[in-house]
Amino acid sequence: MGSASRKKGSAIRNLLQLEGMSRTALERLLDDAFRFKRDVMRKSGKKVGALRGKAVVNLFFEASTRTRTSFELAGKYLGADVVNFQEQGSSVEKGETLYDTAETIQAMGVDLLVVRHSTSGVPDRLQRYLQIPVVNAGDGSHEHPTQGLLDMMTVLERTSTLDNVKLVIVGDILHSRVARSDLWGFVAMGAHVTLVAPPMWLADGLSQSGVELTSDLSHAIQDADVLQVLRIQKERQAMDGMPSLEEYRARWGITTEVAKRLRENVIILHPGPQNRGVEIDSEVIARTRTRILDQVENGVSVRMAVLTRLMGDNHERE
Ligand code: CP
Repeated sequence: MGSASRKKGSAIRNLLQLEGMSRTALERLLDDAFRFKRDVMRKSGKKVGALRGKAVVNLFFEASTRTRTSFELAGKYLGADVVNFQEQGSSVEKGETLYDTAETIQAMGVDLLVVRHSTSGVPDRLQRYLQIPVVNAGDGSHEHPTQGLLDMMTVLERTSTLDNVKLVIVGDILHSRVARSDLWGFVAMGAHVTLVAPPMWLADGLSQSGVELTSDLSHAIQDADVLQVLRIQKERQAMDGMPSLEEYRARWGITTEVAKRLRENVIILHPGPQNRGVEIDSEVIARTRTRILDQVENGVSVRMAVLTRLMGDNHERE
């Protein structure tokens, strides 16, 4: 798992980022996820029991539907007890710090924390102080590693390899943690990645071997095998010279007209939630080439794989 997650002589402890993960480590997790989907979810009535006696807390300081629910289901399918921490009504409202909150939960005998926070680096900082594994469920604009994994799994279901697959990611690249996890994961797996955004949202720092940055959507999508359409964060409107929603849709939106110019077998992804009629049209979402609900489904298997690897008896040791 991510380099920051390893401690010498101990089991792999955390999943903080896909950056720095080896292809072998990614493939191992993806193989586990496929196994859960094929052999367990469909054959064993969703009850596995591998994590019976374990306790997981979802510590979410940002809204979520897919990630929090699928971590909860994944833990429960594996037999763990899962608690969703709610910031509202907690002692955070009385001024308790993030670290004190996490340490308090750890003291209750919890075995793993799943953390989402609006500030980049929070899961990493917490794991430095805690003795239990931490899984990053999305931190600021840094990474969303389980999203990257489920995106790779969804494509692999169609292509069987990511070698030389052409992935185009369009949207708010500068602020997108999904873009970063996809980028690091897909590149490690042999894919070619193109990042498309309005000029003020292109993150120059991401320019590296195998990654192209452009604002020219029409050119980028010509030979795309996979198109990942990012959510436009409306809260950023008018903050940094962002075009209006209408202008964004006209130049970077995946409209019905734009979709006609995509390759026949293109796989269209969206991490959700979607702004229909802004970054993607409803008509495009409804097409069979769109794998958005496959992404959601695969999120459960991926999170089962991650939880098992971090807490199960057979987790990898260095
Ligand atoms: N893709 C994703 O992170 O969605 P949620 O915010 O609903 O969890």
